[in-house]
Amino acid sequence: MGKLQASCVSPLVILVLLLRLATLIAAWAPVTRTITVARQGPGDFRTVQSAVDSVPDGNSEWIRIHVAAGDYWEKVSIPRSKNYILLEGDGFWTTQIGFNDHAHPGVQEIMSRGDAGIAEMVNRSAEVSPTFRSATFSVFADNFVARHIAFKNTYNMEDRSKPDQAVAALVAGDKAAFYDCAFFGYQDTLCDFLGRHYFRDCVVMGAVVDFIFGFGQSIYDGCVIRSIVSPGVQQPGWVTAHARQQSWSPGGLVFKGGLLLGTGRLFLGRAWNRYATVVFYRVWMSDMVVPEGWQAWDAGNDVEDVTFAEHSCAGPGSNRSKRVAWEKTLSEEEVQRFVDIKYIDDDGWLSNGPQPTFLLRT
Ligand SMILES: *[C@@H]1O[C@H](CO)[C@@H](O)[C@H](O)[C@H]1NC(C)=O
Ligand SMILES: *[C@@H]1O[C@H](CO)[C@@H](O)[C@H](O)[C@H]1NC(C)=O
Repeated sequence: MGKLQASCVSPLVILVLLLRLATLIAAWAPVTRTITVARQGPGDFRTVQSAVDSVPDGNSEWIRIHVAAGDYWEKVSIPRSKNYILLEGDGFWTTQIGFNDHAHPGVQEIMSRGDAGIAEMVNRSAEVSPTFRSATFSVFADNFVARHIAFKNTYNMEDRSKPDQAVAALVAGDKAAFYDCAFFGYQDTLCDFLGRHYFRDCVVMGAVVDFIFGFGQSIYDGCVIRSIVSPGVQQPGWVTAHARQQSWSPGGLVFKGGLLLGTGRLFLGRAWNRYATVVFYRVWMSDMVVPEGWQAWDAGNDVEDVTFAEHSCAGPGSNRSKRVAWEKTLSEEEVQRFVDIKYIDDDGWLSNGPQPTFLLRT
């Protein structure tokens, strides 16, 4: 009897499972085409930018740009018109896009770049911010995914005596996801400029000034933030400088799991604007975190509007007993709003993107 039942039920169970699997697979957007980049060939292109340029304006289907292992010495920019690019390397230690621009080159340095330098001087007056233009990699398009690749700005890594903003990556489009990527820089490494972003298992390296800054609404899931200041540097740095401007503005940086470690000393953040929002949740913090934890900076005396919070963190740096009095204590419900993936994936763009090479955490 038992055997008979089992043989009747199992095809049905298998069918149900297959259907469920099909719907799971169907949730991921297909990648329609792959363009290959290899610095020394063979491949469709030798530079990442030329591959990006080959994507048609107004693109509406996912196109993979696979970048073979190698060091790519170039600035790369994805304009607003080129949506749905999946930029994929062979691993962030082997496929790296690097450059050494910085925010305030001197007149002599600009002139030494010849005609391009002069054009840049002319353009200066129209610049929004030289900091943003220093980025090695910039994405202005919506719907972007990167995985297994590193972005680096070596300007002050080469000569640490030259303090200036030198951004490794600027993420200015909405709906961008980075899996297993690295951002190597020294000052202002990652400009999380604007939009909803997801960083999963990434490394952000920097020293002292604002490792991650901008107006973004992002979850950093299982990421490692590593400080690399030289021994003896007394000035504490800042992991974040968030810039939320109004109570109704979107934006907030959420660190969920992951590690905060390295050399030197760090504040968890400073408020670039008075509604700055940063939450650390279940992050392991080394003793490099300064006891006060946070600074008001641009918020001045209006700290009541700033949302800087920590919840369930661990490690020697997570002791909150000497934190600034205005650090927020969030209720369980408030914490859930920030750490739930819906905080950035409210309309399903992330869970309906191209299939990650490993499963998303829920
Ligand atoms: C200067 O601006 C023009 C027009 O916006 C642009 O085409 C050009 O690439 C810029 N040149 C430099 C060197 O930034
Ligand atoms: C946190 O720091 C305070 C004061 O320095 C100390 O008394 C307390 O034991 C620490 N708590 C933990 C859990 O280490």
